[in-house]
Amino acid sequence: MAVLRWPALAIMALVLASLPVPGSSLGACREDLPPPSDSYLNPSGCIRCSADNSTCLECGSHHARAANGTCIRCRPPGDFGKLCASCEADAPDVCTGCASIQYGMDFTENYGVYLAENGTCVPCKWATPNCYACLDGNATCTECDLGFALVSGQCTHCTDAKCLQCKESPDRCTECQAGDVTGLYLDAKTHSCVPCTDPACVACSNSSSCEMCSEGYTPKGSACIPCAKPQCIYCQDGPDTCTGCTMGGEWVLDPVSQNCVPCGVANCTQCGAPGKCDWCQGGFRVAQNGTKCEQCQVARCENCVEDASKCMEFGCIASFRLNNATGQCEQCTVPHCLGCLPALDLCSGCEVGYKLGEPVAGTQPPSSKECVPDPSGGLEPAGMGLT
Ligand SMILES: *[C@@H]1O[C@H](CO)[C@@H](O)[C@H](O)[C@H]1NC(C)=O
Ligand SMILES: *[C@@H]1O[C@H](CO)[C@@H](O)[C@H](O)[C@H]1NC(C)=O
Ligand SMILES: *[C@@H]1O[C@H](CO)[C@@H](O)[C@H](O)[C@H]1NC(C)=O
Ligand SMILES: *[C@@H]1O[C@H](CO)[C@@H](O)[C@H](O)[C@H]1NC(C)=O
Ligand SMILES: *[C@@H]1O[C@H](CO)[C@@H](O)[C@H](O)[C@H]1NC(C)=O
Ligand SMILES: *[C@@H]1O[C@H](CO)[C@@H](O)[C@H](O)[C@H]1NC(C)=O
Ligand SMILES: *[C@@H]1O[C@H](CO)[C@@H](O)[C@H](O)[C@H]1NC(C)=O
Ligand SMILES: *[C@@H]1O[C@H](CO)[C@@H](O)[C@H](O)[C@H]1NC(C)=O
Repeated sequence: MAVLRWPALAIMALVLASLPVPGSSLGACREDLPPPSDSYLNPSGCIRCSADNSTCLECGSHHARAANGTCIRCRPPGDFGKLCASCEADAPDVCTGCASIQYGMDFTENYGVYLAENGTCVPCKWATPNCYACLDGNATCTECDLGFALVSGQCTHCTDAKCLQCKESPDRCTECQAGDVTGLYLDAKTHSCVPCTDPACVACSNSSSCEMCSEGYTPKGSACIPCAKPQCIYCQDGPDTCTGCTMGGEWVLDPVSQNCVPCGVANCTQCGAPGKCDWCQGGFRVAQNGTKCEQCQVARCENCVEDASKCMEFGCIASFRLNNATGQCEQCTVPHCLGCLPALDLCSGCEVGYKLGEPVAGTQPPSSKECVPDPSGGLEPAGMGLT
């Protein structure tokens, strides 16, 4: 990091001081959404302004109300400062209460935090691995992550790897995982997870029953028997019923006969009703009210959804791009390139096994003059879809 010299620091301080702090200048109270929507991210921190909008009467979570009627954001130090839900206005860097459960970026990794003695919020799993919720102060674990049991303050893996939840004891499973294809049920006697009797059964509650079968099958007792109607893949209510036909656009359920009948529209990938296509395969567009899939007229065009004679902006097949002036799909000139932006000789994504070379400065998305072999194998083509 570059070292800031004095003048730069002074200018920065001046700039920061002159920036209006949202919701803090008197006479400009603005309300945020009320709880539970209020959060660290809320701009003003105020959830109830005075009648004349001059001051804040009530601040939301993650904020404290100062005597002058402004909301001060809690900001204890450390990576988890934003998890502080409450503080005193005169000491916003000392947290007095942490948000109960936090969610990871993808909402699967949720975890609890506790209020440490130094006034910061710390994830429970730092104090006790795989701990989900714990007590403020001493971080005593009160609940473990899914798949773990709380034993003497520690989180221990469920004994059965197929077990999803075993809160009380590692060898007492209370909920089984979904199972890859064949479902699992919880055996009431052994407290362990057992596969359903029929391998095609995806959900069962014991060895003598099956509640749901995989595609193309319907439950009968503990077994799964095939759907009887040709091309039918969903017949949950019995072998002679049908609620869904083979995917791919060739077959569609006739609402009257409940049979699978041909769609009757060539090059259809998603059929809505007999004789009516909802979505055509690549290189075709839905035309004449769904009775026809019309071929795109521009060579190497994958998507001409609006007009068969015009390719959509990003509608060319991989390694080609639309030339706006001619309306044609032109091949990227960089070998092994999948998409060229912003010019034919600037690649924005390479084939599997290749990666972009040094990016050309100022290109958006980052583009390169070459695709170079990717020693790591590069299973994911970088920049896919940026054709
Ligand atoms: C209101 O009080 C807080 C905390 O004492 C202070 O930081 C802030 O500058 C004050 N705001 C105004 C507009 O007086
Ligand atoms: C206060 O602000 C609210 C929301 O911006 C607005 O609807 C209301 O009319 C304002 N009241 C006054 C007295 O300006
Ligand atoms: C506060 O305490 C926690 C738990 O002991 C520790 O992990 C963290 O680094 C401390 N933070 C600061 C800013 O001292
Ligand atoms: C931890 O703190 C709680 C109160 O927050 C207290 O009830 C408990 O006894 C403490 N446990 C230990 C091991 O200190
Ligand atoms: C098996 O589960 C089914 C469906 O929940 C239930 O009706 C049946 O009584 C169960 N059989 C036994 C032996 O528990
Ligand atoms: C489109 O449908 C026609 C008629 O069934 C067929 O001959 C042709 O191969 C199809 N085109 C593609 C690209 O699948
Ligand atoms: C298009 O099809 C729908 C239902 O399939 C029908 O209601 C509608 O009248 C048709 N429109 C035209 C212009 O044919
Ligand atoms: C091509 O034309 C489309 C639609 O007129 C426009 O949005 C787009 O920016 C143009 N692209 C280039 C590279 O000129």
